Amino acid sequence: MDTLVVYYSIFGNNKGIATNIAQVNNYDIVEFNPGTIFRVFQFFVRKKRLAKKARKIDIKNYNNLIICGPIWAGKPAPAIIKLLENIGLQNKKIRCIFTYTQDYSETESQVTDLITKNGGIPNEIVFWNIKNESDH
Ligand SMILES: Cc1cc2nc3c(=O)[nH]c(=O)nc-3n(C[C@H](O)[C@H](O)[C@H](O)COP(=O)(O)O)c2cc1C
Repeated sequence: MDTLVVYYSIFGNNKGIATNIAQVNNYDIVEFNPGTIFRVFQFFVRKKRLAKKARKIDIKNYNNLIICGPIWAGKPAPAIIKLLENIGLQNKKIRCIFTYTQDYSETESQVTDLITKNGGIPNEIVFWNIKNESDH
């Protein structure tokens, strides 16, 4: 029980993935929920508030974090970036699962750098094409 799943989801895909991982493995789970139905607008604004909310998530009892979120405009959604910058990654092993529909360009190296810069240990970064999932 030293793994926490944290997810950010607008359309429910990451919620589903995170819930499944948590249930199958008996991990704790928390939604990083910036708290408004117009959450997609956080693409443009409210970054300070996101940082503050990320700092409030209590991860001191966990050694491993699994972070699930969407790719927006070729990168992790701004909420995920703010989460990684502010949750307190020091000495935690980090797995990321990112959902996308078309492309995620240089995300893997950017996220690895971001995790390392914030003191975390990048474990695995997985990209999940949700479009293909619904095709078959
Ligand atoms: C503002 C916005 C930008 C997006 N940009 C991309 C993109 O650049 N590449 C891509 O593959 N998918 C992109 N998508 C699709 C999302 O990755 C997809 O909706 C998301 O993974 C679904 O996750 P959710 O259901 O947990 O919200 C974008 C979606 C939104 C809302």
